[in-house]
Amino acid sequence: MNKFESISQDQFKNGMRKLAAAVNVITVEHEGFRDGLTATAVCSVSAEPPQLLICVNSQTHGHKLIRQSKCFALNIMARDQEEIAMRFAGMDGTERSQRFDKGSWSKIITGAPCLNGALVNFDCEVINEIEAGTHSIFIGHIVGSRISGDDNAPLIYGEGKFTGLMN
Ligand SMILES: Cc1cc2nc3c(=O)[nH]c(=O)nc-3n(C[C@H](O)[C@H](O)[C@H](O)COP(=O)(O)O)c2cc1C
Repeated sequence: MNKFESISQDQFKNGMRKLAAAVNVITVEHEGFRDGLTATAVCSVSAEPPQLLICVNSQTHGHKLIRQSKCFALNIMARDQEEIAMRFAGMDGTERSQRFDKGSWSKIITGAPCLNGALVNFDCEVINEIEAGTHSIFIGHIVGSRISGDDNAPLIYGEGKFTGLMN
């Protein structure tokens, strides 16, 4: 039993709109099925061992595949990859089977699809899952990475829209 009452969902959403964050596409492959979702609820955990965390809604298709494969890739999106981010958020009206039709994809270690040209691909093996309300926090041990050679800017989401960083 909690000591205090929750704020409302609207209060939560209105506050979280102000939390501008880097945009990522989390991808997964399991027994020939690929899926993925756009996500901002992502965080660095530790460098030694190299670990990061992702928060994934258990209603998403990717959630089930991450649980089954125990792997995922985190693709940190570049400013010019907004269309792919919209596609993996289900915002562009395309079928989910077409999610990987845009962009070119390759594999590093686990087999999870890694977007060529993303700022960074982190290929991860799930070492822990913590259930938190509607979401699971997956902690990924990073087993492969690829860092884009150019100095492309990051894609950011805040105030309900995609944007870039201002210099
Ligand atoms: C900017 C942005 C950030 C998002 N962040 C997350 C996130 O961190 N975790 C999550 O589970 N869904 C997040 N979503 C929602 C998923 O991308 C969306 O529900 C997606 O359609 C899930 O795939 P599905 O079609 O399999 O449900 C985000 C959406 C947007 C537009």
